[in-house]
Amino acid sequence: MTPDEKKKAAAETALAYVESGWVVGVGTGSTANHFIDALARVKGRIDGAVASSNATAERLKKHGIPVLELNSTGDLPLYVDGADEATRHLHLIKGGGGALTREKIVAAASAKFVCIADDSKLVDVLGKFPLPIEIIPMARSLVARQLTARGGQPVLREKFITDNGNLILDVHNLSILNPVELERELNQLAGVVTVGLFAVRPADVLILGGDEGVETLP
Ligand code: 5RP
Repeated sequence: MTPDEKKKAAAETALAYVESGWVVGVGTGSTANHFIDALARVKGRIDGAVASSNATAERLKKHGIPVLELNSTGDLPLYVDGADEATRHLHLIKGGGGALTREKIVAAASAKFVCIADDSKLVDVLGKFPLPIEIIPMARSLVARQLTARGGQPVLREKFITDNGNLILDVHNLSILNPVELERELNQLAGVVTVGLFAVRPADVLILGGDEGVETLP
């Protein structure tokens, strides 16, 4: 199976979590795109979706799925999204697509967060994938210096502006042994908008597509 086929298998499995009459939170990236395509098959049964990025909103609209604003929906029953890395504790690194801030907002508003991925994303320790951090532009150097002092190697994502008009620093060489603590600590730095660690609010379910089929954790 190719990685894309594994992503698609995980996304198709997540469709079983969708119930009639729900507004569903939808993530960003190639795995989330497979979920959107699957969601289109049941669009007559759901009330709509809240998008975690402009790209996702566009894809939902192309399928004729109503895109609703989180401010008008209130809390959501379900959020489905991919990840760049995941552990068996369901702690995640996200933000490879740069949508981490809205992803974290929708995850925080959702009763259940179902993460979908191919099995290459499963790791013992987070941090091989560079940790994305969204920052206010004027704080770029300040935050970069503070990340360097913590042993990281921040690299500005070239020619990239987030949907919120901010920058992304991708932080290399972090071995993240305590993701909850690091997420809390980095969130406190002035100029940091969002840290791409999803550990304070981890996923509730992790669906991994693999050669032997789909594994669901826990
Ligand atoms: C976007 C994300 C994505 O979930 C993450 O990058 C995984 O992407 P893909 O499904 O394409 O592998 O966090 O900000």
